[in-house]
Amino acid sequence: MQKKVYIYRSFERFWHWMQAIIIFFLAMTGFEIHGSISFFGYQNAVKYHNIAAYAFIILIIFAIFWHFSTGEWRQYLPTARNLKAQINYYLLGIFSNAPHPTRKTVLSKLNPLQKLVYLGLKILVIPTMVISGLLYMFYRYPQNSSIVGMNIGSIKVIALFHTAGAFLLLAFIIVHLYLITTGTTVTSNLKAMITGYEELETEETTDIKKINSESIAEKVKPEVTNE
Ligand code: HEM
Repeated sequence: MQKKVYIYRSFERFWHWMQAIIIFFLAMTGFEIHGSISFFGYQNAVKYHNIAAYAFIILIIFAIFWHFSTGEWRQYLPTARNLKAQINYYLLGIFSNAPHPTRKTVLSKLNPLQKLVYLGLKILVIPTMVISGLLYMFYRYPQNSSIVGMNIGSIKVIALFHTAGAFLLLAFIIVHLYLITTGTTVTSNLKAMITGYEELETEETTDIKKINSESIAEKVKPEVTNE
């Protein structure tokens, strides 16, 4: 049964779009600092990159609080179940109109590949960007050009991690933009992240407004398959 379901709550949508804007802006200013593009001018790019970085850190703090207070962090627990089927779907099935191997529900919004990739972003790539970015910002302190306590004598290794993370995020954005068009219709995923509502194939009567955070924490389970 197809049903219009409230799947993304207002904070989640706000966080998603703010994160998208800030990361896009950090990438633009960052790659100008790197010397790849020219738009704001180097001095401004550095200034804007620093301001956006602080905004990003504030957003991350709120998002961490939201994930834990709602129990939504469980959506990102990785599972091997259907992982191969999902990879096969993106590599082959999608081109022959095969059905999606996993079904999206309020309690399991992410497919197994998304769980893995988003978890990697949350616990590896974003922390790497924040930590290397802060080290980049403050490496001149407390002593000349070295962070004495951490024994980092040169900015090179920090820059390397920060730039590698930036390229990874750029690759993620490109793939993400393509994959959001592969929902039930080309725009269904996009519309859902704007309005909060999505047409889902479901037997559940669940609407996220009716589920309290405790029950999400209890109920989030691996995907139900169509197979
Ligand atoms: C809280 C997060 C972040 C902080 C604190 C931060 C901070 C910094 C700082 C201080 C610099 C050096 C500026 C200078 O040379 O004066 C820098 C460079 C750069 N940032 Fe960020 N940044 C953050 C997130 C990001 C993100 C998310 C991206 C990309 C999507 C990014 C991309 C870059 C790039 C490409 C450079 C140039 C690196 C180089 O050429 O060595 N940054 N960042």
